Amino acid sequence: MNIEFARHRRLRQNENLRALVRETILRTEDLIYPIFVAAGENVKNEVSSMPGVYQLSLDNLLDEVKEAKQLGVRAFILFGVPFESDKDAVGTGAFSHNGLVQLATKLVKEHYPEVLVVADTCLCEYTDHGHCGLVRDGEILNDESLEVLVKTAISQVEAGADIIAPSNMMDGFVAAIRQGLDEAGYTHIPIMSYAVKYASSYYGPFRDAANGAPQFGDRKTYQMDPANRMEALREAESDLLEGADFLIVKPALAYMDIIRDVKNNVNLPIVAYNVSGEYSMIKAAALNGWINEKQIVLETLTGFKRAGADLIITYFAKDVAKYLQEDM
Ligand code: PBG
Ligand code: ZN
Repeated sequence: MNIEFARHRRLRQNENLRALVRETILRTEDLIYPIFVAAGENVKNEVSSMPGVYQLSLDNLLDEVKEAKQLGVRAFILFGVPFESDKDAVGTGAFSHNGLVQLATKLVKEHYPEVLVVADTCLCEYTDHGHCGLVRDGEILNDESLEVLVKTAISQVEAGADIIAPSNMMDGFVAAIRQGLDEAGYTHIPIMSYAVKYASSYYGPFRDAANGAPQFGDRKTYQMDPANRMEALREAESDLLEGADFLIVKPALAYMDIIRDVKNNVNLPIVAYNVSGEYSMIKAAALNGWINEKQIVLETLTGFKRAGADLIITYFAKDVAKYLQEDM
């Protein structure tokens, strides 16, 4: 035989060679771990659709942070799960000084000042209608919601939050929050914007975890149509101009092309949100013995990074930190 061809297998012969030419490396420093902070005491409820994920009351919070921290996880994103009876039309719990995210942030920073606390800035967990903005006559109001979001962000920073992560998808939320923070003297606090957030069924389990499902309608008038790609770049560009420091693309798995597009077109750190439904699907298959959880999780998260993500928000953060130690 006299054929010429490339010998790609030359660099795949053994793990040493493969490691030498590996292009994408997943690191524990890339991970942001979401925690659901529940009202009440002595709460440790496993979320039925998310095995291994818990709603934790404040008295159980520090143990979780400590465990993750010991594994090397340094950044946390906090979501509040208030009592239904504490919800109202304007989402007072979101910006209250005794709100769950505020109290949790204070507690974590008091005990572990060295970790990064990211505060999710939204209203849906705190409004009785379950929408991310204010509502009048069944309509989700844009400009009227901005003021409440600004108040929420400022109260979170006052509690000690290191990064503000607004997830509400109102237009102008980054500009409003940036200006609000600056005027309050918080020019140094970064904004991690949920810039590209699709109206996705992959959020289903999160709505169990955070009790934040909309009570009427859906989120399609503010979250993006999953069919759209150019629109993602418009969202990303406007958030850059408005002063965002990080851009989140969410969900991640069905949107790897969008992660790459945003990475190539906007020069900010890109964050992939490996959302609840993506977690649940892997967990369910793993619990059935149908897939190898560790390998699938590492492959999936490495894929997000290869697609262009610099950071990953993931419910698998502790597991991944453990896996990466095992492989050392
Ligand atoms: C609320 C919010 C949602 C998620 C993060 N913040 C749900 C939604 O928009 O319906 C989803 C996270 C996940 O599914 O893991 N603004
Ligand atoms: Zn919301």
